[in-house]
Amino acid sequence: MSERGRGPQRAEATELSRPADAAVPVGVDAPILDVMATMRAMRRLKPDPVPREVLAEIVRAATWAPSGSDAQHYGFVVVTDRGKMAELAELWRDVVEVYSELMGTVVPGADDDRHARMADALRHQAEHFHETPALIAACYQRSGPGLSTLADVRGNVDLARRLGPARLRRLVAGARTAGGLAEASSIYPAVQNLLLAARAHGLGATLTIWHLFREADFRRVLGVPKDHGIYALVPVGYPLGNFGPVRRRPVDEALHWEQW
Ligand SMILES: Cc1cc2nc3c(=O)[nH]c(=O)nc-3n(C[C@H](O)[C@H](O)[C@H](O)COP(=O)(O)O)c2cc1C
Repeated sequence: MSERGRGPQRAEATELSRPADAAVPVGVDAPILDVMATMRAMRRLKPDPVPREVLAEIVRAATWAPSGSDAQHYGFVVVTDRGKMAELAELWRDVVEVYSELMGTVVPGADDDRHARMADALRHQAEHFHETPALIAACYQRSGPGLSTLADVRGNVDLARRLGPARLRRLVAGARTAGGLAEASSIYPAVQNLLLAARAHGLGATLTIWHLFREADFRRVLGVPKDHGIYALVPVGYPLGNFGPVRRRPVDEALHWEQW
């Protein structure tokens, strides 16, 4: 292991979800559990365009996901324009470079075989990013107390009185974390739906978040309003490689009945 690879050990992903040679169903009527078991991150994509109706269909499936308080504060930007994709490709290559520099620290044990293969796929994707048929940005409105809430002095005093000091302290302490997590947990189910729907249409896709290294620049190119966060960028296209069984930690290692 390199110096850079030292650190907390990455969990070993040892169990194939399906026998390596089992048939992999693709299509809108593929059994959902088989789909989940064989939905790997697909980074090598053909440049062939994806029909607009298909892209709209997978975003529709994303909107079927639940969101906290049923707020549905999501927004999806779908980019297919070649000029814009070229602009995004420059940003993408930059953030991949940053990530690759960090990879050994972000992903301890990053120099094993699986990660060498992943690094190859990342390099391929970065080099061909301008050819990506479609990029979908999953966004969600950032919450936080609005001006009207803050200005409502009497309402806030009443609330503080009703809660009492101990509960108020707990509310204030948890509010910041809860706010950020609530938004993320309201958009990622939609992103997973999007990945599943893409797969149903035979499309390869990957959930990515490294735009966060340059969120302001991605936000500018994508025209995302300031009060919305970009939570995932999902490159989508017909895969060059094959769908296949995911390799994960054995479930018995992760499953705790009644108590951890
Ligand atoms: C929260 C989250 C963030 C991710 N961010 C990235 C990313 O920035 N770039 C990337 O190429 N893949 C990203 N991935 C994909 C993972 O690297 C991938 O799912 C994981 O390595 C397992 O690969 P597999 O599904 O092919 O087995 C992300 C996945 C998740 C769930």
